[in-house]
Amino acid sequence: MRRVYLDNNATTPVLPEVLDAMRPYFGEHFGNASSIHHHGQETRAAVERARESVASLLGSRPAEIVFTSGGTEADNLAIFGLARPGDHIITSTIEHHAVLNSCKQLQERGIEATFVPVDGRGLVNPDDVKRALRSNTKLVTTMFANNETGVIQPVEDIGRICAEADVYFHTDGVQAASKIPIDVRAIGCDLLSISGHKFHAPQGVGALYVRKGTKLDPLFYGGSHERSRRAGTENVPGIVGLGKAAELAMKAFAAGEDREMAAQRDMLETAILDKVDSTGVNGAGAPRVPNTTNVYFDYIEGEALIISLDLKGLSVSTGAACSSGAIEPSHVLTAMGLRPDRARASIRFSLGKQNTAGDVDFVVELVPAAVERLRELSPLYNRSSAVRS
Ligand SMILES: Cc1ncc(COP(=O)(O)O)c(C=O)c1O
Repeated sequence: MRRVYLDNNATTPVLPEVLDAMRPYFGEHFGNASSIHHHGQETRAAVERARESVASLLGSRPAEIVFTSGGTEADNLAIFGLARPGDHIITSTIEHHAVLNSCKQLQERGIEATFVPVDGRGLVNPDDVKRALRSNTKLVTTMFANNETGVIQPVEDIGRICAEADVYFHTDGVQAASKIPIDVRAIGCDLLSISGHKFHAPQGVGALYVRKGTKLDPLFYGGSHERSRRAGTENVPGIVGLGKAAELAMKAFAAGEDREMAAQRDMLETAILDKVDSTGVNGAGAPRVPNTTNVYFDYIEGEALIISLDLKGLSVSTGAACSSGAIEPSHVLTAMGLRPDRARASIRFSLGKQNTAGDVDFVVELVPAAVERLRELSPLYNRSSAVRS
């Protein structure tokens, strides 16, 4: 059976070039990057080359890149590294749980937090951030691109507001990296998180950009790795993979692959909306990353559609992978004002570099039939079609 994977916001396959770059660091070049002998120097050089690639992808200096175990750790390092008792922090209602639950944990420790809302398109209003500022606000943390809808936030405007107020600005760039160009200087952020497995590097490696001069407490205590910002022996193969993926992402931008992907996504979206009634795009009208579309199919349960599509060979999801199995509707979609039933009827399709035009055709064939079958079983749909006819 043909299998198509359109859940690249959950994770992506490691590209062959990335795997090739990593392979020697599992065997031949196994040294501890902190060792001063030949074996250590070899891996140290590889880690520093990767740091340069990641810095180029983000527009930072190499010394401002801290390697982590992924996006969650990068988000936690930014947030717990800065917030102190007596501080106030600002975030948004649509953050990934890595940020949302970190902020909630800070609240339990007595730190005040404001969660700014989003509009119907899923956009934070920078003026809401400005209005939420207090004299003790230490940090604003709002994401760059949303993992469920792909909606790109006005981070440059928020960055400007934070700079004027002399407040730290962290943005979770996990779903933006490699999808849209990132320039930390243009954003004006002090911290930005990325995760390798969202752009064809392996799972379990990521990075935090930390602007020079930012006073950040570490999460872990141990050796003085990563300029004392992240103790622990470096994951050299993972870091090498992240560096290679960053390099490939820059080449892909230069070749216009992001525009090609947006065209493929638009084809998929338009075809589904044309073929299936009572559907719509969540986040329509807002700027979005090129690979993501989040579509609601009224009168069905998203989980049922996912299972039915899976049985036919298509892997997609309802949104955040970690909330799969939970019956709660997506906090992102409900924050955008969707009714719970419409939020539960929403599916995320996210493309990756490995997807082909044939994959899109396959999906466009499969989805309308699967939706129709589920709607046939839905008393709600029958009633409403009776009303409509
Ligand atoms: C926006 C966003 N932030 C953070 C994370 C967590 O990254 P990781 O899986 O590398 O811990 C994810 C993963 O889904 C994400 O989409």
